[in-house]
This record gives sequence, structure tokens and C-alpha cells, in this order.
Amino acid sequence: MPRFDILSVFPEMFLSPFNASLLKKASDKGVIDIHLHNIRDYADDKHHMTDDAPYGGGGGMVMKVEPVEKALAAIVAERHKALVVLMTPQGETFNQKTAEALSLCEQIVIVCGHYEGIDERIRQYLVDREISIGDYILTGGEIAAMVLVDAVSRLVPGVLGNNDSAACDSFSTGLLEYPQYTRPAEYKGWQVPDVLLSGHHKEIDAWRRKTSLRRTWLRRPDLLAEGNLSDEDKKIIEEFEI
Ligand code: ADE
Repeated sequence: MPRFDILSVFPEMFLSPFNASLLKKASDKGVIDIHLHNIRDYADDKHHMTDDAPYGGGGGMVMKVEPVEKALAAIVAERHKALVVLMTPQGETFNQKTAEALSLCEQIVIVCGHYEGIDERIRQYLVDREISIGDYILTGGEIAAMVLVDAVSRLVPGVLGNNDSAACDSFSTGLLEYPQYTRPAEYKGWQVPDVLLSGHHKEIDAWRRKTSLRRTWLRRPDLLAEGNLSDEDKKIIEEFEI
């Protein structure tokens, strides 16, 4: 079971998303273990400063190294068993493969960057991995950390109700997911495809594979190059191309 430790100057931001839905259930069941830490608590000076002006001048404030180092020293019991991640737009882009790898870690410590920047020594001496959730700039690393914890947690056995649901996700199969429908079979003239009502499991599987391939071909052709395609899949794709 991974233990998440989140270091932030705004730990209260996490309370609402972590206290609802599947993450709350998983925490209550003890399937995941999330700990929030305020970096300010590790700032020893009179004003509990976690940021300061940049050396060399210029605008904005820079996150200080000492409180982060002290927080990590207090939180990480066995350094070799912990992965320290810095959320930053300069990091490697987060994806499903990274989520899968992180779901196997014992302890993930997430440092949420804030202010205009962070002291480079945090990167150099304290952090194992730098992760970005996409090519845009957030006000801080907190929302990015929530995305990471959510995506990793749902891969931990026991978090999702149905064990199959993560295995069939878009991306974990290398393809986008096939379209899903539920009752009613017809609404305002909008029909569910007949094959899904037919009870023929082989035909349903074939329809699902084909629609999954078609959706991926249309929306994310880059994934097809990486996906594990059978000869049958390749034939189906050739038909789309005609
Ligand atoms: N902090 C600010 N922007 C970010 C991003 N895109 N990903 C991760 N952390 C961030």
C-alpha cells in the first residue's frame, strides 16, 4: 500500500478532494494512506518564512530549501524506500505509465512548488523525480499533486470497486476505451447499438475492439504506434483508411 506524504504551504487545499468519493473510501478502508504536512511548520525562524527574495535580484519570491529539507528529514524514515517527487511544469509529463510505476512505491513524498520558483538546491539534493501534469502553468503544485494522487490511487488494488475497471481503462490497454451505454435502450429516439442488446458476447467483444480502434485512430493516432496491435487489429485499421 503506498503512503502519500504531501508537503505544501496550503495543505488545506487537499481536504475537500481527499474527503469525497473513492479516495475517501480508500482512506477509510486503509487501502491508501495520505498525510498532509505544512512546510511552514518546518520553518524555524520567527516568522516561519518558507520563501525569500531571489539572489541576484528580480521579482517574485523563491521557496526556501531549509524548511523542505527539514520536513523531508522528519517524514522519510527510510530514504531508499521513499520516492520524493517535485510537482513542477519543468518536469517529465505525467501519464498512465508513470501512474502505474508509482502505484508500486511504498512511500511517495510530493513536494508542491509554489511562489515564482524554488531554490534550485531542492531539485539538486532532495528530489528524485520532477513531474508536470501538462504544458500549462498552475498557481502552484497542489492541484497537480491531487491529479497524481488520484491517478495513482485508483491503480492500487482495493480502491476501485470492480478490479477489472482499471485494466480496461483508456491508455492502460494502449487504446482509447470503447463507447459505453446503459438503460434505457432508447431515449428520445437515441438508440443503443443493437449488437450490445444481442447477448452475443463474441460479437460484442469484436464491436468493442473495433470501436476502440476507430476512436483511437480518429482522436489519438499517436497511440496506435505504441499499442499492441494484432494482425486482425491492423486489418480493421486498414479498412478505416479506405
Ligand atoms: N506547478 C505549476 N504548474 C504545474 C504543472 N503544469 N504541473 C505540475 N506542477 C505544476
